[in-house]
Amino acid sequence: MGADGGRRADVAITDGVVTAVAERLDVDPGTKILDAGGCVVSPGLVDLHAHLRQPGGEEAETVESAARAAALGGYTAIVAMPNTDPPIDSAAVVHEVLSLGRGAMADVAVAGAITVGRAGDQLAPMAEMADAGVRIFTDDGAGVQDGGLMRRALDYAGGLRARGQKVVLAQHCEDTLLAAGGVMHEGEWSSRLGLPGIPSAAEEAMVARDIALVRQTGVPVHFLHLSTAGAVELVRRAKSEGLAVTAEVAPHHLVLTDQAVAGYDPSYRVNPPLRTFADVLAVRAGVADGTIDAVATDHAPHSPEVKDVPFDMAPPGMLGLETALAVTLTALTRHRGSGSAPGGGEMPDAPGRLGGTGIVLDAGEGAVLDVGAVLALLTARPASIAGLGDCHGGPLVVGAVANICVVDPTATWTVDPTGLASLSRNTPYAGWTLTGRVRHTVLRGEPVVLDSEAQR
Ligand code: DOR
Ligand code: ZN
Repeated sequence: MGADGGRRADVAITDGVVTAVAERLDVDPGTKILDAGGCVVSPGLVDLHAHLRQPGGEEAETVESAARAAALGGYTAIVAMPNTDPPIDSAAVVHEVLSLGRGAMADVAVAGAITVGRAGDQLAPMAEMADAGVRIFTDDGAGVQDGGLMRRALDYAGGLRARGQKVVLAQHCEDTLLAAGGVMHEGEWSSRLGLPGIPSAAEEAMVARDIALVRQTGVPVHFLHLSTAGAVELVRRAKSEGLAVTAEVAPHHLVLTDQAVAGYDPSYRVNPPLRTFADVLAVRAGVADGTIDAVATDHAPHSPEVKDVPFDMAPPGMLGLETALAVTLTALTRHRGSGSAPGGGEMPDAPGRLGGTGIVLDAGEGAVLDVGAVLALLTARPASIAGLGDCHGGPLVVGAVANICVVDPTATWTVDPTGLASLSRNTPYAGWTLTGRVRHTVLRGEPVVLDSEAQR
């Protein structure tokens, strides 16, 4: 079914491929029918940024459990981040994670590290990883601090691109000396709570440096999880200059502010940190005007043993795969029934205004999108950045691989951490009622989620 200008149609799938799209299709007896009444039939979602924790962190997540969470969230493809143990910094580990992904409930692509061990000193063997299928290189979890090394990485990536391997470097933008041990955004709330802060400048300095390097080298950079108004503005200007930059935002930076940390709940610790209300609105405006290309989960599972500790000792990271679509729809569309969060969620949770919750659920000014536009941020655009456009991201036309997400954009549901497929429980949305529910997910023609239930 279409929504927001899409057309109403039935979609036929045979042997994993879309074989017909038409207003009313006749079906042979015995044909399996998935009900999409009241729903949007979208290309399967594509996540540019998921921490699958395997190898080495299997108590928090595995490739299999993350792929199940992904399928339940409407994803048919996820990109595995390389901050594993050992890190994904060689073809051998790339092959290991790819083989763990074979047969999983979502396609698994692998991002490789830019530097050996993600230590930031020496370039990793990017060519052998590119030959193994890697298209995104990143030291995510840390940014590449050494500008000279980042420049060499870009030159090297340019060489691979000249060979026809369309690789892209993805930066976790944080200058560690500026961040200097901070555990939340540096501002009014870090002062009030007595916690060391990470200034916006830590993100913006690295975005600015990398934009200069893109201008110098002509080789593209993708900016991971942008969180500050200043970073969005830098990318906006770089794009208006015609530079080859792309950017993503994580759902939590669309709906949570640093004020959420007021109760010292470690579920709200994340990197980059939750920022101010003004930053949330600026990031939303960046999404609305195309400065931000994609929404990516930064799904970062942590086991209760390490996460349920005092705020400043907890590792940063939040679950995202099962809630991303609903959080994004709830934040950016007016299509919702009644998104709500425990203890508040009403606008305005204005800058400097005390006593709110740090939760900004309603769509803000200048950032109201239709469902189709939100889905593009989660499908076609990330698929193209990740080089997965042949199989993922749509469009759903005859001949396309049948990777499909059927979502009811008006259905509401309440997040129950104990009901999540992830092996970890660190969602910041426990108890939230969200709008937008995945009904079915179809992976290469196989219904892996039916009526919101995983099929294996
Ligand atoms: O909050 C975060 N958690 N940010 C990152 O960049 C890494 C991630 C993780 O791996 O836990
Ligand atoms: Zn990151």
